[in-house]
Amino acid sequence: MQSLAIIGSQWGDEGKGKITDLLGANCDVVVRYQGGNNAGHTIVVKNEKIVLHLIPSGILRSNCLSVIGHGVVFDPEAFKEELETISAAGIKVDHNRLKISANCTIITRYNQILDKARENFGTTKIGTTGKGIGPTYEDKASRKALKLKDLLNKDILAKTLKESIFEKKVLFEHLYNVECPPLEEEVDRLYQLGQIIKPYVCDTFSIIDKAASEGKKIMYEGAQGVLLDIDYGSYPFVTSSNTSYGGVYTGAGLPGKHLDEVLGITKAYTTRVGEGPFPTELTDDIGVQIQQIGLEFGATTGRRRRCGWIDLPLLKYSVKASNLTSIALTKVDVLSGLSELKVCYAYQYEGKQVDCAYQGIDLSKVEPMYMDLAPFNDDFSKNDFSKQLIDYITTIEKFIGIPIGILSYGAERDEIIFRKNYFN
Ligand code: GDP
Ligand code: IMO
Ligand code: MG
Repeated sequence: MQSLAIIGSQWGDEGKGKITDLLGANCDVVVRYQGGNNAGHTIVVKNEKIVLHLIPSGILRSNCLSVIGHGVVFDPEAFKEELETISAAGIKVDHNRLKISANCTIITRYNQILDKARENFGTTKIGTTGKGIGPTYEDKASRKALKLKDLLNKDILAKTLKESIFEKKVLFEHLYNVECPPLEEEVDRLYQLGQIIKPYVCDTFSIIDKAASEGKKIMYEGAQGVLLDIDYGSYPFVTSSNTSYGGVYTGAGLPGKHLDEVLGITKAYTTRVGEGPFPTELTDDIGVQIQQIGLEFGATTGRRRRCGWIDLPLLKYSVKASNLTSIALTKVDVLSGLSELKVCYAYQYEGKQVDCAYQGIDLSKVEPMYMDLAPFNDDFSKNDFSKQLIDYITTIEKFIGIPIGILSYGAERDEIIFRKNYFN
């Protein structure tokens, strides 16, 4: 196996950081290709927790080159802070270990302000992370965006930024009534940050091309999850990028090759942060129990994550929408010892039974149909599972038609069981 993509198969926070870090032990390059610092990817090593937002989760592995591809929306200040945090944690990062595409789109202060203004005063609240992600992808699509390479030339930076805020100023002054920094101040800030980031900036497409043609092992680390995909997700309650496997090709590239494995990271239950429909959401004591045992708080905003049972019609949809080839089932330990265990296997929707979701289905109107399974109570200290846990695993596998290749039962690196080989 030479190339593998890590894809969140639900609404994000499935444990992508942990699995990327683990598989990073046996690969050469780890690439982020979409999203930005809306992501929060947690890695725990011997009780020490590191949360990465922009830097790929291969950075803890000295054998890995980390690459931020052109599909990422890049906040230079957040990047600088993250570099400082991980350096303070003893992780050495220099331009030989980390490369950033000159074509990443820049998140400006104006985009952060617009994101927050819409959330505070707009009509539909999405519950965004407030990091400026949506407005930045809008700038990119409207061809008004700043690119990372622009930060290195003050004249181009000033000219492009002036054009990019031409319309926004009207919104700030006349619609939202919010303050925004003067153009010169933002130009200076971004230029100074550009000087710090300069050593890392390069043509990452050619780096990936060369690595692929030399037979190097490349892993693509997705952010968010398929159900937050701008095209495949629960629109409009989504993020603004392609979080599914198509994003690999548009946001980083895999010249002349295809992905050998698309590993869907799947929580043993479902969580969601922010607004939007959630068919299997639990608003009772069991929901609170899962939230508390699973420590379900957002790694980026600290918000409480909404929790519910595993939703197989949505999972089956994600398998198809993102061409998943196997699943890593995470946080199985959180369900262990619960007094009940349910699996949503279908919906009642518009008078029909639906066992696989599809684009445009109104998730706020579906009625989940549940199957009761016998709860399991495993402590995972030995490699033999209870009959009840095996039943849970096989129920999921049978339904989605692809294998569970990894079982994760704790945040630490060694709390993992491989049922399939990846990169070795
Ligand atoms: P990501 O965004 O997909 O990387 O996931 P997050 O880091 O936002 O959230 C996953 C959380 O679950 C983190 O706090 C991880 O340390 C933790 N975690 C990952 N795998 C497991 C697991 O198998 N069991 C438990 N209890 N925690 C896990
Ligand atoms: P990781 O990579 C969970 C959610 C936000 C909001 C919606 C849009 O850690 O899995 P945005 O700021 O992107 O415009 O917000 O998407 N969201 C996430 N939820 N995990 C994430 O990332 C998320 N990134 C964005 O809560 O509902
Ligand atoms: Mg996260």
